[in-house]
Amino acid sequence: MHEPADLASSFSPDFVWGVATSAFQIEGAADEDGKGPSIWDDFCRRPGAIADGSDGRTACDHVHRWREDLDLLAALGVDAYRFSVSWPRVQPTGAGAWNEPGLAFYERLVDGLLERGIRPYLTLNHWDLPSALQAGGGWAQRDTVHRFVDYAVGIAHRMGDRVAAITTHNEPWVMAHHGHEQGHFAPGLKSRATAMQVSHHLLLSHGLALQALRAQGCRSPLGIVLNLSPMQPATGSPDDLAKARLEDGLLARWYLDPLFHGRYPVDVWQHLGADAPVVQPGDLAAIATPMDFLGVNYYTRTVVSAAGPWDPTTGGRELTDMGWEVYPEGLTDLLLRLHRDHLLPPTYVMENGAAYPDVPGPDGQVHDAARVRYLQEHIAAIAAARHQGVPVAGYMVWSLLDNFEWASGYAKRFGIVHVDYATQRRTLKDSGRWYRGFLQQVAARRRARTASPGPVGAAL
Ligand code: FCB
Repeated sequence: MHEPADLASSFSPDFVWGVATSAFQIEGAADEDGKGPSIWDDFCRRPGAIADGSDGRTACDHVHRWREDLDLLAALGVDAYRFSVSWPRVQPTGAGAWNEPGLAFYERLVDGLLERGIRPYLTLNHWDLPSALQAGGGWAQRDTVHRFVDYAVGIAHRMGDRVAAITTHNEPWVMAHHGHEQGHFAPGLKSRATAMQVSHHLLLSHGLALQALRAQGCRSPLGIVLNLSPMQPATGSPDDLAKARLEDGLLARWYLDPLFHGRYPVDVWQHLGADAPVVQPGDLAAIATPMDFLGVNYYTRTVVSAAGPWDPTTGGRELTDMGWEVYPEGLTDLLLRLHRDHLLPPTYVMENGAAYPDVPGPDGQVHDAARVRYLQEHIAAIAAARHQGVPVAGYMVWSLLDNFEWASGYAKRFGIVHVDYATQRRTLKDSGRWYRGFLQQVAARRRARTASPGPVGAAL
């Protein structure tokens, strides 16, 4: 099943294949070269916040090893690399002065990618807000929206001409909900009203950033990345159906409806009552500024039961090390539903992957057959959605490297490259070898296509 050549033949030659990382999870160099602290640096110091008590001070030491990591990307044969810029590395307090060494780091990274023929997909905000902005209220403060727009313009000014795409935010739901309502991600607050205000400010800053970037003449495609998951009721009972509808409203429609249609979903707004955000005239029109692409992160489905949390061990599926079900058909369903409801622009699966407790064997290699299967099945699920007309334009594996998995610390390994944190040695896992082989098939098909005469040549 899923032979690389067969899978590759399900995609058009211009489909973009890549891998993804984020700044805080790999960079390290937490306070070097003028970088300011971020809310994740602060959060890691909270006793008990990170499962293994770790932090991002060294992570994968990518700031010092970026050349080696770009060579890894080149050896894999990817078309694209999705990375994020650490805002406090380039603008330490999130306002005013820029930090030249930080900007120079990302410029070297972008140029290094281009030299290797790899397209840079830049994310502006993958969660590591400058601490100084949090001290002033963070994303709950409307002023942070304007700080973000300035930051976006500054980055685009320096490297917008060389990147293949700019994403404003990664997973606003996670920042709002986990960071401000549940409190188990930075900045660790626990207020639903704050979380909803944060979600509105993230969306608003996205729309205003798109407008500002275009006004500055930025020509790279612009979009946002949402974490989405099909919500399935545990049973057909009216209570489970109603709960699934509401949870889908909070996770998906709360973001998709304003982005695509300029309105918040009425049922969710009513459910929130006094916790609904303050929205000023013109905000929704700004949020609905047309995007060039949508990014979707997909890991698993969500089953909803009105009786309480649903137990994934009862679903009959393999579970990953995160306890998440392997549920590839959910990705097909999700993409079809998104296209039906919103008539999608070009859409990228910007993250997809799985954590497994990888340990190198006696041969020094990591035989992660379960991850190979996971990738194959999810790529096949995208092919199925494309065959039914969904304009999926690219796929990025999460992640290039094992890295700092937020509140789980370094215990959860998502990489297709193993990292030995004691030595910083990188070892391509079997999944990395599989992806490389698959990308070789993609490349062979592209070569065959350019070598053979197209319809015009055939007519001559
Ligand atoms: C997503 C995040 C990413 C990574 C994966 C496993 O929610 O965007 O940084 O942690 O989950």
